[in-house]
Amino acid sequence: MSGSKIRVLVAEEVRYFLQFVEVPADVQIEWLPTSAAVPEGDYKGLLPLLSRRVDESVLERLPQLMVVANFAVGFDNIDLDATRARGVPVSNTPDVLTGATADLTWSLILAVSRRIVEAERLAREGKWTWHPTLLLGMQLSGRRLGLLGAGRIGQAVGRRAIPFGMEVVYWDRIEQPEFEAEIGARRIESLDEVLASADLVSIHVQLSEETAGLIGRDQIARMKDGAILINTARGGIVDEDALCEALESGKLRGAGLDVYEGEPQIRECLKRLSNVVLLPHVGSATEDTRRKMFELAWENLMLGVRREPLLTPV
Ligand code: DGY
Repeated sequence: MSGSKIRVLVAEEVRYFLQFVEVPADVQIEWLPTSAAVPEGDYKGLLPLLSRRVDESVLERLPQLMVVANFAVGFDNIDLDATRARGVPVSNTPDVLTGATADLTWSLILAVSRRIVEAERLAREGKWTWHPTLLLGMQLSGRRLGLLGAGRIGQAVGRRAIPFGMEVVYWDRIEQPEFEAEIGARRIESLDEVLASADLVSIHVQLSEETAGLIGRDQIARMKDGAILINTARGGIVDEDALCEALESGKLRGAGLDVYEGEPQIRECLKRLSNVVLLPHVGSATEDTRRKMFELAWENLMLGVRREPLLTPV
């Protein structure tokens, strides 16, 4: 019996992190696997993974909902029009995952530019002898990194480019004068110009109606021959069929992807190619970061169910 307890629905997959927070005596958690449908009930809070769509069909089952505390910085899984219409505040987990995601982005940049995965396979298979033209990659120093989006994660990726001797340009609606002053980054207003001039393009915009399909066939065609594309943001921003074609034809030298349009499915054409490095959406997957994401999401959940202002509302 729940009595007068505040009932909250929490994604089963984050149960491990509960040991790091305090659960108030008047709160009752119900664990919900992301594969299961949201039950009807008098739940006051919902803490979902990014793989759960939270839309009107979910909200109508939870008429007393007071907060959605997303376990992610991205919130494209949440229909904000629907939550707003019902007056349900939503929070995300910014800041705590910036460093981990930027590091992972750089893992992909290095892996693709220096062909690390191909090289590792060859070494394991023992089918190699040292040769001056074995697995030649792209030198990063002196090359231009084009950031699509210079929010927290984009900037953190840009900062890490400086020790590698790269020039940084960015495309963003908002000017970032402090970022520019800090690392000498330059804003370019035209997306086409960034695409046409960058040796390496890294995506750091949110997925929204404006950015869905932002990098389509035409945009890829405008990219420099032999450039590299990195996506650690959301799969829906890139036309993956067009990307496959560009990787197959050699228009692009390579790509590094952590996110996919139909996650967790990955297109066969991508899996066949050796010039793309594929990761299973692990941008923020460090022990410290995932713990901090949970702590922040939990705090937002606890504030929301008491109608207090959220720490990181979206
Ligand atoms: C996010 O938080 O949006 C990432 O994709 C997963 O950490």
